[in-house]
Amino acid sequence: MAEMSTDQPIPVAVVGVGRMGRHHARIYHELPEAQLLAVVDADEDRAGTLADQYACEALPSVDALLEKFPQVKAVSVAVPTEHHEAVAAPLLSRGIACLIEKPLAGSVEVARRIVDLAHQHDTLVQVGHTERFNPAVRAIHSIDIAPRFIEVDRVSPMTFRSLDVSVVFDIMIHDLDIVLMLVKSPIKSVAACGVAVLGDNEDIADARIEFENGCIAKITASRLALKTERKLRVFSETGYVSLNYAAKTGIAIQRTGNVDQLMEIREQLAAGADLSDVNYMDLVDVKELEIKEEEPLRAELSNFLAASTGQAQPEVDAAAGFAAVEAAEKVIAAIRAHRWAGLESHKPV
Ligand SMILES: NC(=O)c1ccc[n+]([C@@H]2O[C@H](COP(=O)([O-])OP(=O)(O)OC[C@H]3O[C@@H](n4cnc5c(N)ncnc54)[C@H](O)[C@@H]3O)[C@@H](O)[C@H]2O)c1
Repeated sequence: MAEMSTDQPIPVAVVGVGRMGRHHARIYHELPEAQLLAVVDADEDRAGTLADQYACEALPSVDALLEKFPQVKAVSVAVPTEHHEAVAAPLLSRGIACLIEKPLAGSVEVARRIVDLAHQHDTLVQVGHTERFNPAVRAIHSIDIAPRFIEVDRVSPMTFRSLDVSVVFDIMIHDLDIVLMLVKSPIKSVAACGVAVLGDNEDIADARIEFENGCIAKITASRLALKTERKLRVFSETGYVSLNYAAKTGIAIQRTGNVDQLMEIREQLAAGADLSDVNYMDLVDVKELEIKEEEPLRAELSNFLAASTGQAQPEVDAAAGFAAVEAAEKVIAAIRAHRWAGLESHKPV
């Protein structure tokens, strides 16, 4: 991938301007480093409305984009996941950098083909795991923590969207990506269970993933909850981090900030002291994580544009997008292999 100057705005386009892609178009229109040439959508009315709003061209297909704007350098692919490969392939083959929305693909097989094609043409594929750019997640990087146990809950009420895929590909994949980023070790085994209530695909899933390095992650995802909750907790010998993704808040407790207290407690316990009157909360030094106010998608697109010109590393590269798809497939396989021999009267309808 050649390095080029960013003095000139980068010619960009968005393919698929539905719920997600319209935000890509809005942000490219706002970012000074981008020149939004066109929005592309099979739904021409939709493309037309967005093109009027963001003063660019409306086009019906990738072929039309390549014909009208052969100079396009970077494209967001925000069509439904089943069309990611068909849309991205002609772009990647011409060396055009693609930001492909998450999940990279609906299966490991297709994800592999996209990764191989990008590799073959030495072209950037970045994957839209926007949660990586959640300021609360970014704040974790300032903490020195090697996770031993991670617990994640991502539950929300039904939106009646994406019911054609399992909750694992729709929702849990965000957390699989974050967990893989934190643990940095291959998956050793997965135990999981899930239930499909409204269709054939799981609406609720719970996975316990063990990594080669011994870390364990427990991830719960539901699209049938009565509340919205997105929480992540990381435990290790050296510290503890708790994040509330939705509220974009977080706290950390680090051993380095609590060494004196720990030593004193250890000494007192060893000496047989009765500490039942001590208020544990008064002893612990809890640090609020410093969280920058920043729109995650804007940060993601800025990173993509910089990566497309070789000025930055992509935060979520093709390998990371592939790893998340692979992990999701493992979770689904574990769910479907899991035998439930409950009451005859409680079998799924
Ligand atoms: N990063 C996130 O947090 C996040 C959130 C939601 C969705 N997504 C992902 O974004 C992608 C799009 O989801 P969505 O909810 O915006 O879908 P959507 O159905 O709202 O929009 C998709 C748009 O693509 C258009 N389209 C479909 N096939 C096309 C083609 N071949 N060429 C041109 N246009 C085409 C449709 O007309 C539609 O306007 C999916 O991969 C989804 O998983 C990511």
